[in-house]
Amino acid sequence: MMRLRQALGTYAARFDIDILPECSSTNALLLERAAEGAPSGSVLVAERQTAGRGRRGRVWVSSPEDSLTFSLLWRWQKNAHLAGLSLAVGLALHRALRGLGARDLGLKWPNDLLYCGGEGDAKLAGILIELASDARGIASVIGVGINLRAPQVPEQATAGLDDCCVEMPARDILLAALLTGLARHLDLFASAGFAALRADWQLRNVWQDKNVRLYADSNPPVEGICRGVDDEGALLLATAAGLQRFWAGDVSLRAGEA
Ligand code: BTN
Repeated sequence: MMRLRQALGTYAARFDIDILPECSSTNALLLERAAEGAPSGSVLVAERQTAGRGRRGRVWVSSPEDSLTFSLLWRWQKNAHLAGLSLAVGLALHRALRGLGARDLGLKWPNDLLYCGGEGDAKLAGILIELASDARGIASVIGVGINLRAPQVPEQATAGLDDCCVEMPARDILLAALLTGLARHLDLFASAGFAALRADWQLRNVWQDKNVRLYADSNPPVEGICRGVDDEGALLLATAAGLQRFWAGDVSLRAGEA
């Protein structure tokens, strides 16, 4: 904890960090703490999650030695415009890992962090943001799961930070870099919105100008060329019906096409 505080430097005062050996899900527990009034900047790190949550109702399985799993509570004013928040978080993690020497990283809409230096793009980290409103405003719980070593996940290409780094950072140094990067980006997002980060996000978009397929809930998949994102973080697809914006879904590369 001492080295973590040192590595956080002037940012240490902005975080209240709790490290648990085990919990169900750091997101679930931090949402409970948010409802009880936990301050912005509260962080929950768990060595093991028994019911880790993934995007779109999936489970998130991670092994304690081979991953870093944590959630950060960030509070916003009642009328805050949070469109693009998850993309801002992805960019923050990307930049923080680059700063630690990780190479060949890319971003996949809306908020996956990929390792692109292997045979195909492989998932390195996932982000799950959950929101709650109360009398004070909006509480966002930003959950992050980073693979330190690639897990075996059926039907998914995965990578570990050890694939991207010549020298692996120590766990506390990694956490400090991610938290300071998040604070910087969340401050910028609060003052200028996602528009201020859009160009940078797009530079790291792994599927920019590629043929992709978007799977959205209960609709048939939509095919188009990925034209990046707009100022609100919506995905732009050039489809047969023209340029269309999408707010949710899973994107994959169209098989056999680049
Ligand atoms: C995804 O499906 O890609 C998002 C995965 C997010 C996992 C992290 S691990 C820490 C936090 N607690 C959770 O239960 N989920 C997030």
